[in-house]
Amino acid sequence: MSNNNANVTNMKDRYGPWALIAGASHGVGTEFARQVAAQGINCVLLSRRESALKELQTELENDHGVQTRVIAVDLSTEGAVDIIEAGVKDLDLGLVIYNAGAPPYASEFLKAPLDAWQGLVRLNVTTVTDLCYKLGQRLVERGRGGLLLVGSQAGLGGNKKYSMYTGTKGFMVNFGESLWIEWKDKGVDVLNLLISVVDSPTLRAQMKKSNIPGWDAPDIGVPKPVDIAAIGLRELPHGPTFIHPEDEATPAGETRPGVTRRESMLERWAITAPFVGDD
Ligand SMILES: NC(=O)c1ccc[n+]([C@@H]2O[C@H](COP(=O)([O-])OP(=O)(O)OC[C@H]3O[C@@H](n4cnc5c(N)ncnc54)[C@H](OP(=O)(O)O)[C@@H]3O)[C@@H](O)[C@H]2O)c1
Repeated sequence: MSNNNANVTNMKDRYGPWALIAGASHGVGTEFARQVAAQGINCVLLSRRESALKELQTELENDHGVQTRVIAVDLSTEGAVDIIEAGVKDLDLGLVIYNAGAPPYASEFLKAPLDAWQGLVRLNVTTVTDLCYKLGQRLVERGRGGLLLVGSQAGLGGNKKYSMYTGTKGFMVNFGESLWIEWKDKGVDVLNLLISVVDSPTLRAQMKKSNIPGWDAPDIGVPKPVDIAAIGLRELPHGPTFIHPEDEATPAGETRPGVTRRESMLERWAITAPFVGDD
């Protein structure tokens, strides 16, 4: 494992004592939980499959001596954030990682039930909005913390069979960048981690369903969750956006695409501020 976490100093001071990882039961989310717990930060583990979360709970408590809490909830349903709020109201949360968010399947827009797309809108738009509002308020009030939105390069443009996925992930990129500029002087780091294909159980299941040969091969030639999570935690203080793998591959001395996005955003704000007030 290449553990870039060694580069993160004082993570517990900056993002502890509790983190919430939404979408923790497999893949990138599980790796986030492991790496956050390894820094001594207590973890709230959230997804739909309670049994998988409980296994991870035992592992983290045994391996890292941290406290954990499990919340089993479907983030694509109304009322999910009320359940989360109730589950964390007594905790001093310093870090929120929103990792759930893949589409239920790849399909042209008109070939899937409308309900499926509306569920994806709730997962990637409505729930994200409500969660960032309610937990973001707490982070800003305490003046210290982090919000890491696991996004996708799909959020940078449209694609066949991914209309709602690209649409909802596009919302997350622009929303997250806006929160970064609003919270950057309030002690709260915001990062959109825009990734390309990663070897997650969801990807494997999609490959199997689409009869793609090699779906069960040990190595399918794409990044592993452990490395993606490490990059996300390393880059959290350097938002608003990290584009993987392009930013990682940019030679020293050249400007990373994520940095170009940050510069354009700051330029846009400089143009807008005189008309809306910089307060
Ligand atoms: N895999 C890729 O190639 C790829 C590429 C680009 C971006 N991404 C992004 O990376 C993130 C992780 O991707 P992933 O492939 O691991 O997929 P995922 O299917 O979004 O699963 C990630 C986690 O979220 C949970 N989850 C999914 N839907 C949920 C729901 N409705 N309510 C509560 N929890 C839910 C899953 O557990 P449960 O089943 O227990 O609920 C799992 O723990 C996503 O945001 C995805 O958009 C992935």
